[in-house]
Amino acid sequence: MLHIDKSELQNHPTPFYAYDLQLLRETLLSAANEAQKYGYHVHYALKANTNSPVLKEVLNVGFGADCVSGNEVKKALESGFPAGKVVFAGVGKSDAEINFGLENDIFCFNTESVHELEVLNELAGQKGKTARIALRINPNVNAKTHHYITTGLEENKFGINFWELPQLLDYLPELENLHLVGLHFHIGSQITDLSVFKALCLRVNEIQSWFLSRNVVVEHLNLGGGLGVNYHEPDTDAIPDFATYFGIFKEFLKPEPGQQVHFELGRALVAQCGTLVSRVLYIKKGIKTNFIILDAGMTELMRPALYQAYHKIENLSSQAHELRYDVVGPICESSDCFGKAVMLPETNRGDLLAIRTAGAYGEVMSSGYNLREKAPAFYFGRR
Ligand code: LLP
Repeated sequence: MLHIDKSELQNHPTPFYAYDLQLLRETLLSAANEAQKYGYHVHYALKANTNSPVLKEVLNVGFGADCVSGNEVKKALESGFPAGKVVFAGVGKSDAEINFGLENDIFCFNTESVHELEVLNELAGQKGKTARIALRINPNVNAKTHHYITTGLEENKFGINFWELPQLLDYLPELENLHLVGLHFHIGSQITDLSVFKALCLRVNEIQSWFLSRNVVVEHLNLGGGLGVNYHEPDTDAIPDFATYFGIFKEFLKPEPGQQVHFELGRALVAQCGTLVSRVLYIKKGIKTNFIILDAGMTELMRPALYQAYHKIENLSSQAHELRYDVVGPICESSDCFGKAVMLPETNRGDLLAIRTAGAYGEVMSSGYNLREKAPAFYFGRR
């Protein structure tokens, strides 16, 4: 929220999402510049935030779109992403979703199982099309992040396991409506220990060598997303360190000559530009602590309830001495809590609170539980 004046937030009905488009542009530009240094291609992971003004900024820096549902593919195409820059991933693509991707000649299906390849082959055949595919391979690399957002271990449901590959390579020529163009890897999200990406590169190099030894060279390697953001310091660390991130791949990944390298970043691009703004309804005395009861809850931002995720909370109205509070929402669930034992200036009914770093996996994961209305979004720093 670096470029939003607190006074601009006062006159909107709460709760709402506030997006700082200026910060978003700066973040996207930084990512685009650092990726461009090495000729890397970035596909924005729509799942993090699908709001049209956000997508418009992403389009402006020339990124492609990484989609995980037919509706995300549709949204990407309607927003202006060229079909040739749309990838479609996901363990459970329905026939209708696959057909939609085929009809629109998207760049690539990131495929996650042998069974899916068979279905894709059949559906492409029915349309007289050849589907461009990447194999999502489970590299069995530990992302060292929350277990709910770890995806690259053999125990996870994602990707094709390495031990399935010999049989699959023998079988693939029979699936004559598929054209293998890439290898895809994504090991998890909110990765802050960057040595994990080095481990990923080394593993991908090994897997690539295995393919080369079988005379298979693909057009691109897709390393997925996962770069984490600083939820504790949203202002001083507003733009992730894309230079170091891409630098690790430059140093350790060994693509073949002419082979493209793709990424699918979501959170790192949009998390810091979004803030959930909520008003204090009540202050309630507890046994050990006081409760701040907000008009926003887990229905607007599910991450704390779902992953015990930390989001920095700020009181935008009060500068009084600090007290200890549990900050909770109005939903009928004990997990509807944004933070326990949070130190905040003495807070009163009517104060505005900001829940920071909510631009990624915030609004998109909101729900209508308790028949709650969808919170609106407001945009600041439009051009
Ligand atoms: N590519 C694939 C195949 C993915 O599954 C994901 C995220 C991404 C790219 C983008 O990852 P990112 O750069 O955003 O880390 N709801 C959770 C995060 C789930 C991430 C799912 N996959 C959260 O709120 O933390």
